[in-house]
Amino acid sequence: MAMFSFLVILASSQLLVLVNAVPASEAEVDVKEIMKKCNESNPIDAEYLDQLNMTGSFPDENVRSAKCFIRCMFMETGVMDSDGKLVAAKLKEAFGKRQGPVAVKTADLEMFVDNCIAADADVTCQCERAYRFSKCLMTEELRSAKRK
Ligand SMILES: *[C@@H]1O[C@H](CO)[C@@H](O)[C@H](O)[C@H]1NC(C)=O
Ligand SMILES: *[C@@H]1O[C@H](CO)[C@@H](O)[C@H](O)[C@H]1NC(C)=O
Repeated sequence: MAMFSFLVILASSQLLVLVNAVPASEAEVDVKEIMKKCNESNPIDAEYLDQLNMTGSFPDENVRSAKCFIRCMFMETGVMDSDGKLVAAKLKEAFGKRQGPVAVKTADLEMFVDNCIAADADVTCQCERAYRFSKCLMTEELRSAKRK
């Protein structure tokens, strides 16, 4: 099943598992193609995605193209709208379906999504906002996993 193979391919990054879980409106979203396209316009080292998954942040937070890669992924999958606003409903839907390695209650995840959107609502740069949201969410998840 296509969905499953995406998950395997993208298992290295919770962010991309998240993106994978976003249902396509019509045709199935080809996450690999989107990744390739985004990596062409905004190159990112694979190591950066691993680090984001493991530590909650990029090893160097001054690499603009890496942050814009996140924005590109968010835009292409619709979790960020054309005005650069994060779409809470879509993010929650994506996280609700995801079966990540970290077991976090749905209610907690929804709270994290709301909090993380609110935390950086005033950041004008869309790349920065997309990155900060990812960082915030990963950090909350890692923290919540540690409490268990
Ligand atoms: C991503 O993080 C989870 C724990 O949160 C871990 O189980 C998984 O192995 C990580 N993936 C990679 C490729 O580091
Ligand atoms: C992006 O492209 C570069 C160059 O082809 C490659 O080294 C890198 O691993 C790619 N990044 C991702 C996340 O696949």
